[in-house]
Amino acid sequence: MISLRCSGCGEQPPDADVLACPLCEELLAFELRTDAISAYAVEDRTRLRRASVDARDRSGVWRYRELLPPVADDAITTLREGDVPLIEANRGASYAGVDRLAYLHLGMNPTASFKDAGMTVAISHARERGARVAICASTGNTAASAAAYAARAGMTAVVIAPVDAISAAKVAQTLDYGAHVVAVEGDFDDALRAVRPLDPATVTVVNSVNPYRIEGQKTAAFVLLEQRRWHAPDWVVLPGGNLGNASALGKGFREARGIGLTARLPRLAVVQAAGAAPFARAWREDRELVPVRAQTDATAIRIGAPASWKKARAEVRFSAGTVLDVRDDEIAEARAVIGRDGVGCEPASAASLAGLRQLVSSGTVPRDADVVCVLTGHVLKDTAYAERYHASSAPHANAIVRGTDLADYLNLLLLTRA
Ligand code: F0G
Repeated sequence: MISLRCSGCGEQPPDADVLACPLCEELLAFELRTDAISAYAVEDRTRLRRASVDARDRSGVWRYRELLPPVADDAITTLREGDVPLIEANRGASYAGVDRLAYLHLGMNPTASFKDAGMTVAISHARERGARVAICASTGNTAASAAAYAARAGMTAVVIAPVDAISAAKVAQTLDYGAHVVAVEGDFDDALRAVRPLDPATVTVVNSVNPYRIEGQKTAAFVLLEQRRWHAPDWVVLPGGNLGNASALGKGFREARGIGLTARLPRLAVVQAAGAAPFARAWREDRELVPVRAQTDATAIRIGAPASWKKARAEVRFSAGTVLDVRDDEIAEARAVIGRDGVGCEPASAASLAGLRQLVSSGTVPRDADVVCVLTGHVLKDTAYAERYHASSAPHANAIVRGTDLADYLNLLLLTRA
């Protein structure tokens, strides 16, 4: 029903734990035989499991376990990840210029980012085969997620990160979960280069080059569709860094359609930060990706050599989607608007709304389109960024009121609000 193959040449790897094809060096990917799966059976099971108290059924990932690579029940390491809300976005809709918008808030996961949906599968598999050490390169969120799931599984986590160039909150969270945090000279790309060649017999790499991560993350597409009664939106807009998530969501939507759970595919729009946009450039110029030295205040997506760009390109093309980039000030403004919806997210996530606004103004996305923006991380993931923003003179900055008489202040507030 599901088999591991090379995403480039299609060959089956000799060993399920290598990260790249020994023949052509491309990444591996699971292939699900969707024609052998009944949509009615999936829908029925999903409904039943919603009423269950089994930890696997409560997880928005393991609820779809028949669509994932098999893992023994006693190896499943879950924190009830994946079952995140789709939230109506009123201010976001008017900011972007569309009639209807919702946020799929993957920051509502146990460690507050989308990584958990992939990590539960990668760590459960590693645990099943007796691995003791999980390792990752990270801009912070993979780190926290790997640390938490490894702790739950009784494994050791090692994180390689440019610690001074990422959110301190994420580093603190990772330390709390007991991971060994190794500071790297350079950036995420350097860290990932150090991690990829490690021997899978000794350590398990849990970056999104690990195909089990992608399998977990594809379930975000199912969770999105399930909440819309399996009716796909016109567009799904998401931020892109290392491009594992775009690959995963594209795969999820493709499989949902292949099974017959949904009638059509949403178009994918992947949004990069302008200073870290090698994929957007390759897309625009219709050529191979050329790595860059990345720079952006959205540190989660400060990635210049995305590992999964070929997989992501295939998914974006298949969905008739697009790739674009937005400036850091556009990300900052969009993030503030998402906050005003009472939702909030970290900077990288807001690239989605900033990107949607650009797509509407260029006419790529019509005003009456039905759109979902994916928010990848929680607002509390980068409070230093939010503090800086609100202390600035940016359009949506909300300064702390100091040295004012409370009664006077409230009177004024009531007068201006009435
Ligand atoms: N949004 C957030 C909040 C992220 O943390 C990341 C990636 C992305 C978007 C981009 O996702 O890499 O799948 O394209 N963070 C990684 C990390 C790289 O180490 O936490 P992608």
